[in-house]
Amino acid sequence: MLMPDQLHSVPTRWKVGLVACLFLGIFGCRAEQLNNSRGYPPERGDLWPQRRAVLFFTTGMDGYIEPCGCTSRPLGGVARLASILSEEKEPSMLMDAGQLLLPTESLDDMTRPQHLAKAQYLARAFRKLGVVAINLGPPDLKQGTSFLMGLQKEGSVPFVSANIRPRKEGGLSVARSRLDMVGGIRFGVTGVAIPEAAAATSDDIVALEIAPAVRAEVQTLRKDGAEVVVVLAHLPVADAQMLAKAIPEMDILIRSPGTPIEGVPQPPVQIGPVVIVEAGQRGQYIGRVRVVVPKNRSERPFVLDDGGAKMEADKARLERRIAALQKEIDLFGVDTSAQAAREARLQVKRQLEQRLASLSLPSAGPAGDAARLELSLIPIETSVNEDDSMKRLLSAYYQELRTMNLSRGDPEACRLDSEDAPIFVGTDKCALCHQEEYAFWQNTSHARAWATLEREARHYDFTCVGCHSVGFRKPGGYCILDQSKPYQNVGCENCHGPGSKHAAAPVPGSISRADTVGVCAESCHVPEHSDMFIYESYIKKITGEGHMRGGSE
Ligand code: HEC
Ligand code: HEC
Ligand code: HEC
Repeated sequence: MLMPDQLHSVPTRWKVGLVACLFLGIFGCRAEQLNNSRGYPPERGDLWPQRRAVLFFTTGMDGYIEPCGCTSRPLGGVARLASILSEEKEPSMLMDAGQLLLPTESLDDMTRPQHLAKAQYLARAFRKLGVVAINLGPPDLKQGTSFLMGLQKEGSVPFVSANIRPRKEGGLSVARSRLDMVGGIRFGVTGVAIPEAAAATSDDIVALEIAPAVRAEVQTLRKDGAEVVVVLAHLPVADAQMLAKAIPEMDILIRSPGTPIEGVPQPPVQIGPVVIVEAGQRGQYIGRVRVVVPKNRSERPFVLDDGGAKMEADKARLERRIAALQKEIDLFGVDTSAQAAREARLQVKRQLEQRLASLSLPSAGPAGDAARLELSLIPIETSVNEDDSMKRLLSAYYQELRTMNLSRGDPEACRLDSEDAPIFVGTDKCALCHQEEYAFWQNTSHARAWATLEREARHYDFTCVGCHSVGFRKPGGYCILDQSKPYQNVGCENCHGPGSKHAAAPVPGSISRADTVGVCAESCHVPEHSDMFIYESYIKKITGEGHMRGGSE
């Protein structure tokens, strides 16, 4: 809480902020308003033994607004994120450490408009969430500063960077740092990214050397009364650690992009007084730091505390999964025909064991009313409610996708290499002669793959249709979305290849008998979209009475 005598020493920048808060109610002040509306007015501060605030952070959203939903445990989604934030009981705020808006993959002419529209919706979503600071990562800059300015024209998109400056006055607005009062605690926030990478994306910016830029900004923040200094850093692990070592005046370094989705985010690392944290990628997790400081004094360094609870829960979960896998492995026993399946499970088990080993977190019990940081990482599970208004925002995006993509595509990609190469004809054509196979196929989930997309209104999404239909963007396939009709679902030709020649003259050798393992795993059942895929068990559902009579051996 602000003590009356402290008010006099509040720097001008902050006073202006306070005034703006009171009179304009701007987004950046949401946290302060929340605080007041919860009935902790500054003059009653002495009723509360400590000041508390929660800092939520994302690291490397990579332009994701939702998970695709293909895997057994889809994590993420801004509608669920919104629920988690709104259920927070302490005064809180949200920050992003960079690489929020656009995917790291390069955008081609077909997908670019959709990714740019998505960036716009993501900016709107984060504004709704009251984000107070967004660090500029090089991927955010790759469409140029005018694109980002366009997003800012719509409303606040609070970019913060100590070392990336727009060249033009009156162009993109990037604050070097900012001060935010949350829960009576003064937070100073700045950002940083690798200058070479940023400069390579755009001529409109100047990128300064990291350490001097951050040091100057951190010092300014301290001078202005920041009690907790946060650096949002789009940096590789080693550089982040070097920066923390070089500038011990900061308290929290939030590193982006976090661990890729195949792994679990790294536990916090302490380098001197600085705590380095991350929250994975694509919004699968949200990082939460609860900051507790004594009532009437500033104090550092902070004691790091995760309560140990999270680690225990993770440990228990991993141990259960390892035990289950071991059971399966034992069941295979010495059956040599199941060697591959056994080996696959062994490999997964080894990975889980490694994760288990890396779980140990330094956990110092907080002493008395010492200033402390309580860290937790919240997985955004499907069990979390989706916030209604955020859901409406997303459906507006999917509506827009329809208009944007329906009659678009990549016609070039469908051109055949040679005149007499076969083309895709669609599953109905095969059904004319292969009724048994067709009847069998209709009962497989492949036959519902398009309906799955339609249910979520994702069948106009270029990033989805490829694996949920036949021959999209392939020579002899379909390349414009409104021509998808005959090609919907994962059909015969996904596995047997384009069949026009065979359908016209079904002579031996005119169509492939499906080179099995490769065809499944290389194109569609990749770990990112099919985490439980084990060829031996999946293929049993694909071949059987009617299709490969009597089942595969
Ligand atoms: C005009 C009828 C006809 C159509 C249309 C047709 N097939 Fe066939 N297909 C046959 C006949 C006949 C055979 C060979 C007889 C057999 O093996 O039972 C055959 C065999 C096959 C084989 C086995 C090939 C092998 O080497 O053993 C596959 C796979 C196959 N068809 C897939 C398809 C697919 C995929 C389509 C749709 C693109 C399709 N067929 C369309 C008549 C047809
Ligand atoms: C690289 C291929 C690939 C892409 C791209 C892909 N999917 Fe999938 N999807 C799959 C596979 C494979 C499965 C089945 C996974 C399994 O059962 O192991 C699946 C399953 C699903 C399911 C679950 C179906 C059910 O009822 O269980 C949903 C929902 C889904 N996908 C939606 C999407 C959406 C939305 C997108 C685009 C954002 C997308 N997919 C992009 C391959 C893909
Ligand atoms: C998910 C992949 C997949 C899909 C989809 C698929 N097949 Fe097959 N098909 C296979 C595999 C694998 C075999 C067995 C190849 C082997 O073991 O030699 C096979 C075998 C066949 C055969 C030869 C054996 C037999 O049953 O006489 C025919 C014909 C065939 N498929 C037709 C079809 C038709 C028609 C469709 C669509 C209705 C279809 N397949 C869909 C993978 C697929």
